[in-house]
Amino acid sequence: MLDLFAEEEPWQEPLAPGAVVLRRFARARAGALISAIEAVAAVSPLRQMVTPGGYTMSVAMTNCGEVGWTTDRRGYLYSATDPLTRAPWPPMPAAFSALCHQAAVAAGYPDFQPDACLINRYAPGAKLSLHQDKDEPDLRAPIVSVSLGLPAVFQFGGLKRNDPLQRIMLEHGDVVVWGGPSRLFYHGILPLKAGQHPATGDCRYNLTFRQARKVE
Ligand code: SIN
Ligand code: FE2
Repeated sequence: MLDLFAEEEPWQEPLAPGAVVLRRFARARAGALISAIEAVAAVSPLRQMVTPGGYTMSVAMTNCGEVGWTTDRRGYLYSATDPLTRAPWPPMPAAFSALCHQAAVAAGYPDFQPDACLINRYAPGAKLSLHQDKDEPDLRAPIVSVSLGLPAVFQFGGLKRNDPLQRIMLEHGDVVVWGGPSRLFYHGILPLKAGQHPATGDCRYNLTFRQARKVE
């Protein structure tokens, strides 16, 4: 019999050379991922950081893993300690590592070993302006990005800021992986539309896995 409540099987949508959207890839494990986010944020709270230009980011952030991405008036930096708690960032939850590894394999990056996970929380109106992820020393490693909760419009461009942008709606459980030729492509998130999601309430979470330290 047709089960109207069955989980949709994940599927893949190519995005650019080296980049793919793994639709619904994380959906079946979203509950465990969200519990793990809450556990990390209970130790290293979500906070709105300040950019070197003095702008307070609309997205609230925290990290887990060996190092975490931070920004303040002095610049962008991967740090082994949380500047707020002055303690190490919480370790990467097992549910995060497992999901990230499986997504990287599915996208063609079986050797990806992330040591950092940035957790972004978008409230209605929060956005991330067009940027490149370029604070990592080893650009051979891809980026694995997991969307949870409310949908958001992801912009994905090219190597130049003014290259044409694709606009992709990212929904609960979608995973985007980009690396190789598209590792430095510009991307961003348009202002989050208000709504309610059964898994996260009035917000969207994004997990961004990176290899932030040089290995060898
Ligand atoms: C990021 O570029 O760090 C986050 C992208 C997203 O929220 O999907
Ligand atoms: Fe980014």
